[in-house]
Amino acid sequence: MTEPVTMDKIVSLCRRRGFVFPSSEIYGGLGSTYDYGHYGVLAKNNIRSLWFRAMVQERDDIVALDSAVILNPRVWEASGHVAGFTDPLVDCRTCKLRFRADKLEDANCGRKPSKRPGETPDCDLTEARQFNLMFKTQVGALEDESSAAYLRPETAQGIFVNFKNVLQLARRKPPFGIAQVGKSFRNEITPGNFLFRVREFEQMEMEFFVPPADADRWYRYWVDERFNWYLKYGLRESRLRRREHSADERSHYSSATTDIEYLYPIGWSELEGVANRGDYDLTQHTQHSGSKLEFVGDGGERYTPYVIEPAVSIERIFVALLVDGYDEETVAERERTVLRLHPAIAPVKAAILPLIPRNAEMVEKARGLYDELRRRHVVEYDDGGQIGRRYRRQDEIGTPFAFTIDEQTLGDDTVTVRDRDSLAQERLPLGGVAAWLDEALDRPWSSPKEA
Ligand code: GAP
Repeated sequence: MTEPVTMDKIVSLCRRRGFVFPSSEIYGGLGSTYDYGHYGVLAKNNIRSLWFRAMVQERDDIVALDSAVILNPRVWEASGHVAGFTDPLVDCRTCKLRFRADKLEDANCGRKPSKRPGETPDCDLTEARQFNLMFKTQVGALEDESSAAYLRPETAQGIFVNFKNVLQLARRKPPFGIAQVGKSFRNEITPGNFLFRVREFEQMEMEFFVPPADADRWYRYWVDERFNWYLKYGLRESRLRRREHSADERSHYSSATTDIEYLYPIGWSELEGVANRGDYDLTQHTQHSGSKLEFVGDGGERYTPYVIEPAVSIERIFVALLVDGYDEETVAERERTVLRLHPAIAPVKAAILPLIPRNAEMVEKARGLYDELRRRHVVEYDDGGQIGRRYRRQDEIGTPFAFTIDEQTLGDDTVTVRDRDSLAQERLPLGGVAAWLDEALDRPWSSPKEA
C-alpha cells in the first residue's frame, strides 16, 4: 500500500468488522467513549495477556495487584492530583466552546472551523484557568464535600498505597515490581483521534521499586525492555522511537521520562511513557498517611525505594497495531484490505472453511476440525457466502491462517492452509492440522509491510 494509513480508514474498518463502536450510539454517543465488539474484545484480551505474561508470568521479580477504582480521596491529595492534575482552559463567550489554552493551534473556531480560536474578530476568549481532569463522584448517600471522591486517573496510586502489604505478604525486597491493569478515567478537554485520547481507558502500569543508587540503570533497562516488547509483537522499528523529556516537560513527580513514540496518523505521539518517579510517591504517602512506606533490610538498613514506571494504555497499543497492520493491495485484479497483525495479537487464529457449504461431507469434516482446534485457540467456522468473500472477511480481521476443506479432502484427508500475508497455500494432512497450527502460532513474525 503506497497511500498513508489514515485514522478514518482505521475507524471505518473497526466499525465495519465490529471491533469498536461509539459508546451509547443510539443516543448520539458520548464524546470520546467507545464500546468494544467481539473482535475488539479478543484483541484487547490478547494485548493484556501478552503484557501480563512479559511483566509477571515470565519474571520472578514482579507480582500482580488489582486495586479499587475509587480510593480514599486523600490518596489524590497526597499524590498531587487534586492540586496539579490540571490543564489550562479557555472559554469562548461567542461560540460557547472550551479549548486547551496550550493547544489552541490544534483547535478549530466554533463559528469558522477553518480558523483557530481567537483568530476571528468575533472570538471572545476568557483568561486561561486551571481545570482538574479527575472525574468527581459521591460515595454514600450524602451529597456534600465530605462524601466527594474521584474515579482514579491512573492505576499507579493504588499500587503505592499497597506497597507495605505487598512488601510484607509477598516477602519481596527491592528490586521488585507490582503490576496492575485496570480502567482509568480522565475528563480530557480535547479528546479525540479515535481511541488515542479517550475519557475512559485501560491502563497497564508497573511500579518497579529499586535501591536509589540503581534507579538510573533500571530506568534505562525498562525503556529498552518495553521498546523491544513492541518489536516482538510486530510494530515496525521505523515507526517507533524513544524520546527523552526535557526538564520543563516532565510531570511533577518525575526526575526522568522517556516516551516510546509511534508514528500514528496524527504524527509521532506517545505510545508508552517510562518514568523515574524517584521517591516522590512513597514519601508523599508516608507524610500524608503517617504510615512509613520504606524498605527495612535484614541488617537494619532502611531507605525509601525509587520507582521506575512503564505506563501505557491498551487503547494506544491497539491503535498502533491497527495502523501498523492495515494494508490494501490488489491481488489477481481484486482489491483486498488486510490487517497484518502478529498472530499472537490477531483476534482469531484460524478460520475453518468448507469450500461447498451444501456438501454435507465437507461440512462434517470442517465441523470436526473446528471442534478440535477451538479447544486450544480462538478459531472461527465460516460457511457463509463465496469462498473469496470468506477469505476477505478473515483478512480484514487479521486471521493469519485459513484451512479449507474441499473435494480433495474427501478423497485423501488433506486440507489447504492459506497464509494471510503471502497468500501461499499448501496441503496438510487433516490429522496434523492442530500440531501445525500450534507450531505456526509460535513462530517469530515480522511485518511484511515496507518500513
Ligand atoms: N502513571 C503515569 C501516568 O499515568 P501518563 O503519561 O499520564 O502517565 C500513561 O499515562 C499512559 O496512559 C500513556 O503513555 C498512554 O499510553 C495512556 N493514556 C494516558 N491518557 C490517555 C487517554 N486519555 N486515552 C488513552 N490512553 C491514555
